[in-house]
Amino acid sequence: MALVSPSILAADFNHLEEEILKMEKAGATYIHLDVMDGVFVPNKTFGPDLVERIHDKHHMVNDVHLMVSTPEASCIDFARAGADILTVHYEAFPNEQALHDCLQLIHTLGKKAGLSIKPKTSPEVLKAFWNELDLALIMSVEPGAGGQKYMVDAEDKMRYCKQLNRNYHRKVIIEVDGGINGETAPRAVEAGATLLVAGSYLFGHDDYEERVKGLLKL
Ligand code: DX5
Ligand code: ZN
Repeated sequence: MALVSPSILAADFNHLEEEILKMEKAGATYIHLDVMDGVFVPNKTFGPDLVERIHDKHHMVNDVHLMVSTPEASCIDFARAGADILTVHYEAFPNEQALHDCLQLIHTLGKKAGLSIKPKTSPEVLKAFWNELDLALIMSVEPGAGGQKYMVDAEDKMRYCKQLNRNYHRKVIIEVDGGINGETAPRAVEAGATLLVAGSYLFGHDDYEERVKGLLKL
């Protein structure tokens, strides 16, 4: 059984509330919120105000993916706005101590801590943080845009995470993000993913309900 986190990046922002409600009614319990600052990645998306609006209007787990170059400040802002999970990028930190400190900050803020790695980063970097994590986010595309092709080598990384959970007797959520659709989702789940992010596969389709339910069955 996988969980589904629809990424609003692919939603119609003119009707965002209805778009999210549709996903909620279809059975998605998480909502994936991609924060981009135009520095860590070239694109810019939204700030804490939007997360606050979603927090006030919906009852989903606010899964905030911070693609930003100043993660500590963003964690504070988005925690205040009602994020439930704050996922930071390994590559955004100058050294490992700064990352340990940030994960501690997230827990002090009363939130779940996630750590993400870009496609070129080795999954082995996750090991040193495994006992501090609630979630590991494996990027199966280069962060920065929706609608890209799933990279199969993300599967070895998910397998590695599954093994870390076994070794450390932990149940860290293994989230996969990028290019997830009806064909790639079963492969990702087989490799160890327990939370599936999907943007362009879910939004903008008439059969979105079937698609959400199909992913939830995996
Ligand atoms: C990319 C984002 C993803 C994106 C996924 O940087 O992190 O969450 O919205 O989009 P799809 O599902 O279309 O690949
Ligand atoms: Zn994302």
